[in-house]
Amino acid sequence: MLDVKEIRRHFSIYESEKKLCYLDSAASALKLKESNEALNKYLEHNGTNVHRGVYKLSYEATLAYEETREVVANFLNAKTEEIVYTRGATEALNMTALLYGMKYLNEGDEVISSELEHHSSLMPWLKVATLKKAKMQYVPLASDSRITVENFKKVLSKKTKVVCLTHVSNVLGYITPIKEIIKLAHEVGAVVVVDGAQGAPHLKVDVKDLDCDFYCFSAHKLCGPTGVGILYGKKSILDNLDPLYYGGDMADQVYLDKMTYKDTPYKFEAGTMMIGEVIALKEAILFLEKVGLENIQKHEEYLKDLALKELKQIPNVIIYNENVETGIIAFNIKNTHPHDAASVYDKNNVCLRAGHHCALPVIRHLQCVGTLRASFYLYNDEEDVKKFVEATKEAAKFFEIFM
Ligand code: ALA
Repeated sequence: MLDVKEIRRHFSIYESEKKLCYLDSAASALKLKESNEALNKYLEHNGTNVHRGVYKLSYEATLAYEETREVVANFLNAKTEEIVYTRGATEALNMTALLYGMKYLNEGDEVISSELEHHSSLMPWLKVATLKKAKMQYVPLASDSRITVENFKKVLSKKTKVVCLTHVSNVLGYITPIKEIIKLAHEVGAVVVVDGAQGAPHLKVDVKDLDCDFYCFSAHKLCGPTGVGILYGKKSILDNLDPLYYGGDMADQVYLDKMTYKDTPYKFEAGTMMIGEVIALKEAILFLEKVGLENIQKHEEYLKDLALKELKQIPNVIIYNENVETGIIAFNIKNTHPHDAASVYDKNNVCLRAGHHCALPVIRHLQCVGTLRASFYLYNDEEDVKKFVEATKEAAKFFEIFM
């Protein structure tokens, strides 16, 4: 168990919301005090642009902005040139499809995705594959609805050009055996895009060890600010891609009939970026690293096991991912719409998510209208599990009438 009391001292919300039981970190994590302070410090005491001003304040902002790139690179075991700032994981994933897919996909090529994907992972590739007359292939999910290497092999072929899969499912919490999948994909010459939105906040990620071609995540799911995300791409690949946006700061030379761009990663960062948010991201990552990603993962697993053990005893609770290895529990109260059930949790100050989680294909696969989802993070404790279990008992009892 982590020292949650000490951890909570870094999250101001626990001072103002004394009864808070926050179990919706898969949607957005609570925001770290040091990260908020860094953002505020930039806004209140700097506020200048980066890479442009030839004066001290702008130089300081640039240094802080670039320091985050080093911290992110170290976090992922990447090179700084391979770290592109984006507005979130969604933008990063869209960029992979719009830049790589539009350039390299051809008619008859195949893109492998899965029913487990978040819309941000699936939709950009579905769109680009359609435009380029390429074919989408979906890894058949195993009986417990996870992606397996065995099933991945069933759709992998010489026609596969791109594989885009989630590292950790936002609905079911399963960890994809991504390293083995990447190895197999590379054997047929395909590139692999990893949706790390739920991976980077909870697992130790080493992009060199994984050997993935792209890895995308958002800051707000790892206790940082909203509006900033990361696109990691292998330098050799990024160097050969065109920018997505054109404008300020990314240009090298501009004439009336031709133009050149800055080197990777700057050619992908057009216009004034979200400077304060980028600076704030550094603090969030340093904090998670200080606590230790392995420790966080173990802590979440411990709480999830504790909760699952209790949940299994409650009549009329349907659990969709009993064998999950991360801190996400997907469940429903029998014959009850998840939004209805969620009102009981809300009444008890338990924040969890109800609905389709922006992942409709897997909701259809589970043959339900949506699920309830509890997701644990480093600031949760056994007391949260207790409140969650009690609220579930109350919900199951309240809706018994519909059984
Ligand atoms: N993608 C986020 C979730 O899973 C918002 O809730």
